[in-house]
Amino acid sequence: MSETATKIDFQAIDKILEKYEYKKSYLIAMLQGVQEVFRYLPEEAMTYIGEKVDGLSPATVYGVATFYAQFSLEPKGKYEIRVCDGTACHVRGSMPVLNAIRNKLKLKEGQTTCDNGLFSLEIVSCLGACGLAPVCVINDKVYPQMTSDAISTILDTLMKEEGVA
Ligand code: FES
Repeated sequence: MSETATKIDFQAIDKILEKYEYKKSYLIAMLQGVQEVFRYLPEEAMTYIGEKVDGLSPATVYGVATFYAQFSLEPKGKYEIRVCDGTACHVRGSMPVLNAIRNKLKLKEGQTTCDNGLFSLEIVSCLGACGLAPVCVINDKVYPQMTSDAISTILDTLMKEEGVA
């Protein structure tokens, strides 16, 4: 598994703030940059930006971060799994696929990232590939016509590659 930025690297945040000259008008770009580094927006990072950038406050930064769906306030896994539960996918069996993923990753109720931080799971609405339903996406790779067996095999392979099988 590659190193995940779990500790808050304030120098990395400073670099991003410098790039945008600590201007509050670049807040979205700053948050995007921070999310790229940490794969989500840690609370400490939002507070830091709110204190460092003139005209902002931690509450303002938090408000913007929660307003936009592109920002995640929860840590994401190295593998971001998205399962479509739009109508076509739902009708063709997205739920058994979703349950197979949850079982395989041992995700508890409400948990979206597995304990080792390798996989995160998100349910999305139509991915625009209804003819391939049910569809899953892992990072940028699309997996068509998924079944619970097929997704279990894919996850087994990834886990083996990562040495966690
Ligand atoms: S409903 Fe799943 S891709 Fe459209």
